Amino acid sequence: MTQKHEPGECRCSRGLTRRGFLSTVGAGVAVASAAGKLAAQPAASQGADVLPSAEMTPITLNINGRTHRLLVEPRWSLLFVLRERLGLTGTKVGCERGECGACTVLMDDLPRYACMTLAVEAQGSEITTLEGLMRGEELGGVQQAFVEEDAFQCGYCTPGQIMAVEGLLRAHPEPSQEEIQMGLSGNLCRCGAYVHIFKAAGRAAQLKRGQ
Ligand code: FES
Ligand code: FES
Repeated sequence: MTQKHEPGECRCSRGLTRRGFLSTVGAGVAVASAAGKLAAQPAASQGADVLPSAEMTPITLNINGRTHRLLVEPRWSLLFVLRERLGLTGTKVGCERGECGACTVLMDDLPRYACMTLAVEAQGSEITTLEGLMRGEELGGVQQAFVEEDAFQCGYCTPGQIMAVEGLLRAHPEPSQEEIQMGLSGNLCRCGAYVHIFKAAGRAAQLKRGQ
């Protein structure tokens, strides 16, 4: 099922300390957090009874510029494969039903809920995760903007927010305030950090323009 989030957004058919979170955003690597336990079990459970290999489906995924050849069960979500098979835990598990946006990745530059996307469905697309926004050891522009604007509290929603902003800016390099709010409408923040998140989106646009 596909759900449009204007402008230019496609999502579906898509006690952590602040310092601990920063390392997540910065390094784009795993953070096992209390918040991460929100819905980790459902995702992990997808692999609980793995089919015999003869019944698995071979797929090829293009993620952050690298090619991954995998055997998957047809029912596995892209979220499960990213986290549990490839170790790309920058993509977070939240509701697992297309409501919160914590699992947002880009597929062909469009934000997409990884929990609502089957891994087999993602073949042929260029997938970008939080890890793919890093420039070597340096933060990407959107990541840097979130740090500068202090655009998080617990930080659990932030990887998804960052990916949504990245997708927004790829479609709209100079977004209006309304476009920013619309572009982030598929990402919930239970801490209510929206004012800072919207500022970070504007700052990210400036950084991407070299300002
Ligand atoms: S975990 Fe995918 S939308 Fe909430
Ligand atoms: S910063 Fe806590 S959920 Fe958004």
